[in-house]
Amino acid sequence: MTADDLKQKYIDFFASKGHTAISGSSLIPQNDPTVLFTTAGMHPLVPYLLGEAHPGGSRLTNCQKCIRTGDIDEVGDVSHLTFFEMLGNWSLGDYFKEEAIEWSFEFLTSKEYLGFAPELLSVTVFAGNENVPRDDESVRIWEGLGIPSARIYALPMEDNWWGPAGQTGPCGPDTEMFIDTGKDACGADCRPGCRCGKYFEIWNDVFMQYDKQADGGYVKLGRHNVDTGMGVERTIAMLQGKASVFETELFAPLMQRIAQMSGRDAQADAVSGQAFRVIADHLRSAVFIIGDEQGVLPGNLGQGYVLRRLIRRAVRFAKQLELPAGFSRQLAETVIESYRKAYPELERRHAHICTELAAEEERFEKTLTRGMAELNKVLENMKKHGQTVVSGRVAFRLYDTCGFPLEFTEEICREQGLEIDRDGFDKAFEKHRSVSKQSAEKAFKGGMADHSEMTTRLHTATHLLHKALQQVLGEHVQQKGSNITPERLRFDFSHPDKMTPEQIAAVEALVNEQIERDLPVSYKAMTLEEAQTAGATALFSGKYGEQVKVYSMGDFSLEVCGGPHVEKTGKLGRFKIKKEESSSAGVRRIRAVLQDA
Ligand code: SER
Repeated sequence: MTADDLKQKYIDFFASKGHTAISGSSLIPQNDPTVLFTTAGMHPLVPYLLGEAHPGGSRLTNCQKCIRTGDIDEVGDVSHLTFFEMLGNWSLGDYFKEEAIEWSFEFLTSKEYLGFAPELLSVTVFAGNENVPRDDESVRIWEGLGIPSARIYALPMEDNWWGPAGQTGPCGPDTEMFIDTGKDACGADCRPGCRCGKYFEIWNDVFMQYDKQADGGYVKLGRHNVDTGMGVERTIAMLQGKASVFETELFAPLMQRIAQMSGRDAQADAVSGQAFRVIADHLRSAVFIIGDEQGVLPGNLGQGYVLRRLIRRAVRFAKQLELPAGFSRQLAETVIESYRKAYPELERRHAHICTELAAEEERFEKTLTRGMAELNKVLENMKKHGQTVVSGRVAFRLYDTCGFPLEFTEEICREQGLEIDRDGFDKAFEKHRSVSKQSAEKAFKGGMADHSEMTTRLHTATHLLHKALQQVLGEHVQQKGSNITPERLRFDFSHPDKMTPEQIAAVEALVNEQIERDLPVSYKAMTLEEAQTAGATALFSGKYGEQVKVYSMGDFSLEVCGGPHVEKTGKLGRFKIKKEESSSAGVRRIRAVLQDA
């Protein structure tokens, strides 16, 4: 079975259980400041999990592209990926544990679908703690399906709970499904979740049945949701009897290309194996991030910073394999070729992806050359003075000012028999941390978007702004990104020039006029084609015939959007543009706030 077969079977199976197949979303979350990337299929569905009506109904299924870079330094083993595809099915206040688990079991074991032998299946459930009881219901359902209790493991919150990290909102226990790879157990304690590779996690059913309170307590939710996620790469590896996701057809062309370019064999030794995997994984992610409908470019903040780290880490490992300059462009071609049918945006942005990757590779080369020259000066000086330890301050300067990775400094020093004062480096790093802290992706499991009153008001203001920009600047204005916190909105849009003060004033006035008109805000569900015919602004192309929500604000704005919004524009207050600046080539960025009227 190929990955394409798996995806089709999954969607068909859940369609046969009354689910509506919906499109996946962009990798860059819209209107949600809590995460930098879409980390799970549930993420774009947060408004609906919180109670907004979904035009597709209460049972949904799809395949979602995801990025998780929280554990970027772990990538390089056989199962961790920074980009992956997640198949999911959702119940929005519809079915619950019984159906979710039974269908997972049926899909996994039925000969018509995946046909895994039930004996290979182990599951985990939530063990309970002082706030929430053990998930006995899931245990009972699994036992009823024939899974013996010896293969049902009850684990603590760190393993079997999905929810808002440190925030309030819906959350709940989950039950995870593992395939036994047939390897020997690494010891008496070996169990699902163990890293030795005996148990391979492929699917997670989350039961959102609690609302986490500000005081840390959990209250039972009036409504129950199900959120499930199956990893395509991992599942296909298990179906094909491979020991690693990198041995499947999803990675084989990339691995072959790296082998050709380097003249090496991924199996030759552990170090090469790791380098092959890191390069393949990171470049695949980079291609998807740049090639996304809302794609970003390498930079020093937010998503751009993560992207830069991925590309630069790939370059570092490419050096180990002595790949030729320009390798990133060649590997990008291979990724695009493998995925262009399922993700046509990659084909559309083909040239852009290759150019930007090559440019970042080159920039990093220059950084390395500069850093090397700087480091050589330092080392010569040290030798002259008979010193053997590079101070933390100097190592940090190389890292911070020259962008020279610490690992490189360490490696070169090691070769010359010198040491680095790591503690000193860490201290210097901590001091300068505030900037990188803002930039680094928030370690975040879950991702409940903020739906406070203020965020909702700013979201409504974003629609008014979008339309006002089109009226003042022209129809070429298109949303390129939106990020809202309770304090402000940030809106990126295509426009070639800096806005004049007059244009800014005109846009502000137009938005404020709509606020004063106190326009009613409402939505209708319709197909994407109907929405387009009605003249609605739509961000992405979805599947033909797919149901979408179209929000109208009086006669002023009509836009495809998930919501939520305020009911009347009069609630917004006074709209004020704080800043208008360049975001990237051909894209402007506006920051705006709502003030008390
Ligand atoms: N949100 C859960 C996960 O990502 C289930 O989809 O594992």
